[in-house]
Amino acid sequence: MKLLVTGGAGFIGSAFVRMMIGAGCARELLVLDKLTYAGNLENLAPVAGDPRYRFVRGDICDATLVEHLLEEFRPDAIVHFAAESHVDRSILSPAPVFETNLRGTFVLLEAARKHGLGVFLHVSTDEVYGSLPEPLEADENFPLRPSSPYSASKAGADLLVLSYFTTYRVPVIVTRASNNYGPYQFPEKLIPLMIGHAMEDRPLPVYGDGGNVRDWLYVEDHCRALALLLEKGRTGEIYNVGGNCALPNLEVVRRILRITGKPESLIRFVADRPGHDRRYAISSRKIQQEIGWRPETDFEEGLRRTVAWYRENAGWVARVLSGEYRRYYEQNYLNREAEIRRLVRS
Ligand code: NAD
Ligand code: TYD
Repeated sequence: MKLLVTGGAGFIGSAFVRMMIGAGCARELLVLDKLTYAGNLENLAPVAGDPRYRFVRGDICDATLVEHLLEEFRPDAIVHFAAESHVDRSILSPAPVFETNLRGTFVLLEAARKHGLGVFLHVSTDEVYGSLPEPLEADENFPLRPSSPYSASKAGADLLVLSYFTTYRVPVIVTRASNNYGPYQFPEKLIPLMIGHAMEDRPLPVYGDGGNVRDWLYVEDHCRALALLLEKGRTGEIYNVGGNCALPNLEVVRRILRITGKPESLIRFVADRPGHDRRYAISSRKIQQEIGWRPETDFEEGLRRTVAWYRENAGWVARVLSGEYRRYYEQNYLNREAEIRRLVRS
């Protein structure tokens, strides 16, 4: 397959590119990425010299560029990862989230409609279903109740993508995965942030009471699901991709402290995230039954591998945390209570 991968320099996109090139599953692969704070060419260094791989720095909102790339490259499939992907940032500044996640997706769909291709694989999230009380699990027909600007933008994009199937017969597939973790994740998300703080003996900031539940999926299991869906997924369909590992945040943080050998006294409960979803839970029965996919990485093993990767890649961490990240860190953590009061009042 000839693949156009948007957002391929980010966490999940780069894992997908490394896997598809490494396993010989892509005849040619073109990454389109704007290289925002979250995009990093170091993540693609393992494939940089491969003749099947090409990189273009650009914005998915740039219709001229996107049309040109489709015309010139003529991909069999687009795998669409590019997004502003962080809930906390979407609360602090929502504008880029809607620009990229909605308008960017629209630009790609329009280009796909005009040029035609085999599959438009839209990588979405379980957060579109919102918070679910026990013992509910969302299947693919569950109502959408997004709570944050991030999840609302993803829900909107999902609907737009599906409308292009219904209206124009663009062959789309939508996936909704649970929380990913693993190597190369930007250290603003829970697991890499807590690993970094634990390794440096800094306080671990747990929002609220730490009882919020997330379902954890190792990034390589997610990428394997996407590769299988490219091959066997039915167009016009939505597939949930869950990790089958639901845990409260506090338990995840405690496990990180155990693996890094650090004391629980490092835990700090801090002001809760506004609109914080209490519990995500999805059923992955459909992808298991139709495609034969299931998550294979045990959470404890995946977490150990992840901690080991961050230990061995201190240089990568230091480089991504320099610059822009510092301003975000101050806004989200150092002045947290005042910042939340300001945001929620205005
Ligand atoms: P990430 O933030 O690590 O990477 C996003 C990538 O998109 C970066 O390389 C960035 O430079 C690029 N990008 C951003 N705006 C762009 C634009 N306008 N044009 C071109 N490129 C742009 O994100 P991630 O965690 O790898 O997530 C990838 C996708 O998977 C997202 O669509 C996200 O919603 C979805 N998802 C993520 C998770 C998770 O736990 N991280 C779970 C389910 C679904
Ligand atoms: P995150 O990794 O931001 O993913 P998402 O919000 O998309 O699920 O957060 C995962 C959970 O961890 C979420 O309940 C918020 C919580 N959290 C903290 O308690 N402290 C933190 O510093 C961060 C980043 C997240």
